Amino acid sequence: MCGIYSSLSTNKMLCSDFLISLKELEYRGYDSAGLVTLDKNKKYKSYKTLSKIDDLKLKISKEESSSLLIGHTRWATHGKPNIKNCHPHIIENLSIVHNGVVENYDDLKKNKIFKNVKFKTDTDTEMILLLIYNYCKSNSFINAVKKTIKLIKGSNAFVCSNIGKGINELAAYKNNTPLYFGIKNNGEKVFSSDVNAMSNSLKGYYYLDNNDIVHITNKNTALYNKKNKRIVLKKIVDSNFKRPKIVSSCYTYSEIKDQKKIISTYGKNIQKIYNVVRKIKKPNEINIIGCGSSYNAGLLAKAFLEKNSNIPTSVYRPSEFNFFLNNKNKLFIFISQSGETADICSLIESKKEFFSNSLSIVNNDDSRLVRESKYNINLNVGLERGVAATKTFSSQILVLNIISKILSKDNNNLVFPSSSVINKLFSYEKEIIKLSKKYSKFKNLFVLGRNYNFPIACEAALKIKEISYIHAEGAPSSEIKHGPIALFDNKFPVIFLVSNKKETIHSEISSLNEVISRTNNIFLIAPDTVVKKLEPKTLSKIDVIAVPDFQNDMAPILYLIILQLFSYHLAKSKKLNIDQPRNLAKVVTVE
Ligand code: G6P
Repeated sequence: MCGIYSSLSTNKMLCSDFLISLKELEYRGYDSAGLVTLDKNKKYKSYKTLSKIDDLKLKISKEESSSLLIGHTRWATHGKPNIKNCHPHIIENLSIVHNGVVENYDDLKKNKIFKNVKFKTDTDTEMILLLIYNYCKSNSFINAVKKTIKLIKGSNAFVCSNIGKGINELAAYKNNTPLYFGIKNNGEKVFSSDVNAMSNSLKGYYYLDNNDIVHITNKNTALYNKKNKRIVLKKIVDSNFKRPKIVSSCYTYSEIKDQKKIISTYGKNIQKIYNVVRKIKKPNEINIIGCGSSYNAGLLAKAFLEKNSNIPTSVYRPSEFNFFLNNKNKLFIFISQSGETADICSLIESKKEFFSNSLSIVNNDDSRLVRESKYNINLNVGLERGVAATKTFSSQILVLNIISKILSKDNNNLVFPSSSVINKLFSYEKEIIKLSKKYSKFKNLFVLGRNYNFPIACEAALKIKEISYIHAEGAPSSEIKHGPIALFDNKFPVIFLVSNKKETIHSEISSLNEVISRTNNIFLIAPDTVVKKLEPKTLSKIDVIAVPDFQNDMAPILYLIILQLFSYHLAKSKKLNIDQPRNLAKVVTVE
């Protein structure tokens, strides 16, 4: 989603350095980007693009520098993605970048302030700027900002600059959508939606609380809280960021590969997880809440928790959460890799008392969700930049399995797939590339799996949709007669996941045979021992990848990795932008 990056310094900063930081916001998802600098006459000069940040680099000379830089990546919510609507917006001495949505835009537009005012863009951002501009006529800049935020409703964050005689100033405001204020080692002051973007030479940072305003000038920094009281900025967190190493030009691919190490060594996190879970009284019931991949991890967690800990568990998307249920002896587990997903954060914030016994599982310690939940477990797998969740999804599964074992007091029985098992999966990549070329020609795909493999089927279908734009559906293989079978024909291939669970293996194989008799295009993923027992006649009709036999809760991870590689190569063979699929965002800060 939209990203803010803005800097003020007493010295001039190189625009090319600034663009390196702005580029760090790309992974969040955006459709246009822009920045303003100050020219030699101390006037705003703006650059905009509907393409990548690298395109801005081409437009700006290598030597260009400025003491004030306001940058933005825009994910259109109010007005189409075009140059006119691209931020920053400028009126005379003021310029603004904004994330979020002004929810009362229509009502505010009727305000007399806007009588006879012609909007130049379709954005709600322009409305904020016009309000500040109007109030500046009879107020100081900072008071104009304060008056403006009293009028706007919704989840919003903005940075507005004012250039004056001998003084340049920035005012930043945030409500719900994240904004950080950072101080660099060289004294440069920065605002960013993402702490990662300002991590280079960062001395310390402050995560703005809701309704905070930070006002900076070349000399001073002031913080005002929601009661408009000036408060001391003392919560500056020391920075110890390291940029993750990228082993490939594609983040998603690199992150799929990161799992080789993450999974086999995840045991090192058990003690930390144990320290959190032991503080939680064993609940009578668990409700899990998540979106997208995090919801799918919740589906698998339900199976773990019900089997291992004997605790009835329900899984919800935040928008579907049912408040008629009571919260007695209940644990609420909120799963979100970013910890900033608006739907989840608004839910927990909407009824703090109800969700008081909450545990969040997040990959970002300093996020909105972590602040709202009583307990927190960090996934600890480093920043994930590909929009499609890969290493965060597998680590969610690992954490949730560990929790289910701790709650059952059976944590001696935790065996993670070894690096040789994981490496074996990656050794099938050539075969997977061949299969992805074949299946990339289709418009639809089914992914079927039973028990633990059903959530994996849903996750694989989501990955396929997100990055290869092929319509894919995940369904339980035991359910095919209740609907999916109507669609099976040679144009509708099926990816079929068979487990090695002795209670269900026969019915899984008979479902597979039912599929084989209806379509020619089947890709089977099954354990080695199961594949060996299949009739040669059956094997001759299908594509197969045999995964190593792995007899415990972690078995689904083996199917997952094959399917992540498959989705990646599907998208690659279609020459798509895998890291930043169209219309999707990594951090969904707007509901
Ligand atoms: C977006 C992404 C999905 C992701 C979901 C939840 O929709 O496109 O890939 O799974 O957000 O994100 P979260 O950060 O809450 O896990």
